[in-house]
Amino acid sequence: GPELASVVLGGTVDVLDFPKPGIVFKDLMPLFADGAAFRRVVDGVIEHFGRESFDVVAGVEARGFVVAAAVAYATGVGVVPVRKAGKLPRKALSATYELEYGEATLEVHEDAFVAGQRVLVVDDVLATGGTAGAALELVERAGGTVAGFTVLMELGFLKGRERLAPRPVHAMLTV
Ligand code: PRP
Ligand code: MG
Repeated sequence: GPELASVVLGGTVDVLDFPKPGIVFKDLMPLFADGAAFRRVVDGVIEHFGRESFDVVAGVEARGFVVAAAVAYATGVGVVPVRKAGKLPRKALSATYELEYGEATLEVHEDAFVAGQRVLVVDDVLATGGTAGAALELVERAGGTVAGFTVLMELGFLKGRERLAPRPVHAMLTV
């Protein structure tokens, strides 16, 4: 609700021209560094989806890992990393996507999920949706079912959400 949205807003710092000129970087590290705020947003994610709605959590490297591990721990499920290219030690599936700034590849182990396992995919920010689109595609190609995709902050004007339909997308704050 609006109270959680203001917790996210209050923990975010806009950094101008990072990582390159013209980009306003949304830095949620101050939110993560505040114990009370971090607990409230993690609990908020769990409350939104319900702890019975997913079997495992997938976190998107790197900032998605922070929230994903907390959600998994609090709900007693496991956590699976969706990693940047070249980091996974075993056979992996890859998806390349465009970022607001450049291009990148995400990977997931091909045996990361049991067929039909319900996967809650977690990241910090939804911008163009390139990252999320690749992560959700990988979860599905690896046999998982996307229970939902959740971020703390969505940049609504970039319309990333439209690329993720029809999967359930939740943002605690849309700016
Ligand atoms: C940021 C952010 C999201 C992504 C959103 O990650 O954490 O993952 O960009 O952008 P998009 O919707 O336009 O794809 P970044 O790639 O900067 O890497 P990091 O999480 O490892 O810092
Ligand atoms: Mg990221």
